[in-house]
Amino acid sequence: MKKNIAVLSGDGIGPEVTAQALKVLKVVAEVYGHEFTYKEALVGACAIDATGNPFPEETELVCQQADAILFGAIGHPKYDNDPKAKVRPEQGLLAMRKKLGLFANVRPVKSYKALLPISPLKEEIIDGTDFVVFRELTGGIYFGQPRGRSEDGKNAFDTCTYSTDEIIRVSKLAFEAAQNRRKKVTLVDKANVLATSRLWRETVKELAAEYPDVELDFMFVDNAAMKIIQNPRDFDVVLTENMFGDIITDEASVISGSLGMLPSASIGLSRSLYEPIHGSYPQAAGKNIANPFGAILSAAMLLEYSFGMIEESKAINEAVMQAMNEGFVTEDINKEQAKGTEEVGDKVAEYIKQLTAV
Ligand code: IPM
Ligand code: MN
Repeated sequence: MKKNIAVLSGDGIGPEVTAQALKVLKVVAEVYGHEFTYKEALVGACAIDATGNPFPEETELVCQQADAILFGAIGHPKYDNDPKAKVRPEQGLLAMRKKLGLFANVRPVKSYKALLPISPLKEEIIDGTDFVVFRELTGGIYFGQPRGRSEDGKNAFDTCTYSTDEIIRVSKLAFEAAQNRRKKVTLVDKANVLATSRLWRETVKELAAEYPDVELDFMFVDNAAMKIIQNPRDFDVVLTENMFGDIITDEASVISGSLGMLPSASIGLSRSLYEPIHGSYPQAAGKNIANPFGAILSAAMLLEYSFGMIEESKAINEAVMQAMNEGFVTEDINKEQAKGTEEVGDKVAEYIKQLTAV
């Protein structure tokens, strides 16, 4: 297959981990006979430095011409403690989500045998966890209008708003995913307080009639925050709005043992984007210590979701497991015998070659 991939490696550790994902994609292309072409573009703080805009038009164009987008991370400490900064890297991320119509963020959460001991949670609680969060990504309080400050500056306001259409399109994906898994969707909301949550419940309940093989249950977000670390095995597909999804997926990452493990897909109206959820982690940038698994597993999701390359995606997942089981891991996983970002990437690439050699 011939495919174009837009590569937006961004800031902080983004470029280092994305380089490992590309290394792995190159090997996959080689052994499975695909032709991937890559086009790089700027996003985030590096884009502000170069153009003044965190999501320049040129980058938008590169994305629109690609079959899929591989994304690293954005963010720079110089903006974090400056609430008055006029442009911020995060605006680039939000603009990108909105402009590319990336309406559903898919974040799988798994426990890994080799990583059980490093999670702060008890092994017997997290062992066997396997769920996936479908987070709505272009609506809710992140984008609602009006937002801002009163004239005297003493009041600030954000608006949470949802339409049934926005709810339905992400919910459909969640139900479809559940049909291929353990057939259970949990809608996480705050319907005891919020009008938007009541609309979510009503709409999702109605939609559930089209998926009679899937069981639907409801959970308030505060309770879900507790249950996710108390009984994580009880969850199969979690469906939720933008901000609740942001919060519970960071929480859920603790189950995997390291934030550096988690990949994600942001499903778009015409093309999708793939990124590790760890963010730019500026303290580690340029040190060859960042965990590349999240980025590599994001590349695996890209192959599966955007290109339908199931076998290729599986090979990447297996190679990552093998690297992990054989101790080829970065310092967030094993402080004493840590390997470098590059070394881990090389190992995964090598395992793919071995796995596929006949
Ligand atoms: C994420 C991040 C972003 C979000 C930030 C950087 C705007 O935390 O992708 O989860 O809140 O969506
Ligand atoms: Mn987040």
